[in-house]
Amino acid sequence: MPEGIYLYDAFHHRLLPIVTGDLRALAIGQGQPNVGAKAPVRLICIVDVNKLSNTSGYQEPGLQDPEIQKSYYYVDTGLIAGNVYLFAASQGLASWFHNCNKSGLTAKLNLRADQRVLFGQTVGYPVKK
Ligand SMILES: Cc1cc2nc3c(=O)[nH]c(=O)nc-3n(C[C@H](O)[C@H](O)[C@H](O)COP(=O)(O)O)c2cc1C
Repeated sequence: MPEGIYLYDAFHHRLLPIVTGDLRALAIGQGQPNVGAKAPVRLICIVDVNKLSNTSGYQEPGLQDPEIQKSYYYVDTGLIAGNVYLFAASQGLASWFHNCNKSGLTAKLNLRADQRVLFGQTVGYPVKK
């Protein structure tokens, strides 16, 4: 958001401030035109592979395998993005799923090797025609 990047704490349904400053441009693919630059919110999906391979309850053995891990986090990201598209549509908002600046965000957020930036999603007001 314009004031900074927040971590979504799903358990408590709240946003925790992580970095201040307007870094929305980093949530767009490197070298890509900054379409939707005025949109108030850009979501960034980051997988925490460590959490994935240490889930509680049933442990799918494949969750230790990087290729199977990929299938889980890409499907998860698609499920989340689909929900965001549906919620945005229900509120009359526009949304756009896209790449993001992985190296820029990794540095700015000081991510560990097992935390990987995946994709971005912009949510904003539809362009009036
Ligand atoms: C994994 C993935 C990454 C994408 N990355 C981009 C991207 O970086 N830039 C882009 O313009 N569209 C990207 N798209 C496509 C957009 O999400 C969208 O489908 C496209 O912009 C057409 O949207 P529209 O039908 O609303 O015009 C990506 C789609 C997927 C599934």
